[in-house]
Amino acid sequence: MRIEILTLFPEMFQSPFSVGIFKRAIDRKLVSVNTHNIRDYTHDKHRTVDDYAYGGGAGMILKPEPIFEAIESIKSDIYSKEGVDIVLPIILLTPQGRLFTQEVAQELSRYSYMILICGRYEGVDERVRQHLVTDEISIGDYVLSGGELAAMVVVDAVVRLLPGVLGSEASLLDDSHTTGLLEYPQYTRPAIYRGWSVPQVLLSGNHAQLTKWRREQAIQRTLERRPELLDKANLSLEEKQLIDSWKQS
Ligand code: 6GU
Repeated sequence: MRIEILTLFPEMFQSPFSVGIFKRAIDRKLVSVNTHNIRDYTHDKHRTVDDYAYGGGAGMILKPEPIFEAIESIKSDIYSKEGVDIVLPIILLTPQGRLFTQEVAQELSRYSYMILICGRYEGVDERVRQHLVTDEISIGDYVLSGGELAAMVVVDAVVRLLPGVLGSEASLLDDSHTTGLLEYPQYTRPAIYRGWSVPQVLLSGNHAQLTKWRREQAIQRTLERRPELLDKANLSLEEKQLIDSWKQS
C-alpha cells in the first residue's frame, strides 16, 4: 500500500513511522508513507494556507487552492504509474466524518493507495469536501486540534492489517474488535507472582478447556465493559444462555 498524507505539519509524522512494526513494514516495502506539506502548494509570497471564514466566526479556514493542487499533483503521479483506472480513496480527517472502527480499517486495508488530508479543527473550505474528497473519517467523539494524530491512528490500524506486516497473521483473528468481543485476559511467566497465580486452566494443557475459557472470558469482559458490542458479536445460543445466567446471578 502507498499512503500519501497532506498536512501542514509533516514533521509530526517522523517518529511514529520510524519505529516498531511500521519501520519493519516500510523497510520490507510492504507500505510506503509520503507526507506532503500543503504550504508547498501555495503561490503567494507568504505561503498562505488559510483565511477568514466568509460570514465571520472564530478560527481560520483552510483555503481550497493548495489542497486541490496538492491532490491533483499526487493523483497525476499515481495515474502515470498505475493508469487512470486505479481507485484512489481521498480521505479527509475531520470530527464530522464517519466513525473509524475496525471494520473501516479492514475496508481501507484492501486499497493499494490511500490519500489522507489532515484538516484543522476550525475547518476546511466546503468545496474540498464537495468536489475533492471521497470519504471523511473521525476517530471518535472528542476534538483534536488537527487531523494529524487521527491520520496516524488510521494509518496504524490499517497498516497492521496488510498481509505480511505482523509476525503471525493468526494474532489478527483474536484481536479485540475483530471477533466483535474484547480480548480475553493474557498471562505470561512466572506462574505465581507475589502470590497471584495464573488461572489453572492455562497451565493444564487441556486445549478444548482453554479455548472455552478464553471465549467465556472475552464474552464476560465485553458484557462488563462494552455491553453494546455484544449485539453485533456472533454468539451461539449456548453463549446467549450463559450470558442470561450471569445476568440472573
Ligand atoms: Cl479526524 N480531526 C479532529 N480535528 N478531531 C477529531 C478527529 C479528527 N477525530 C476525532 N476528533
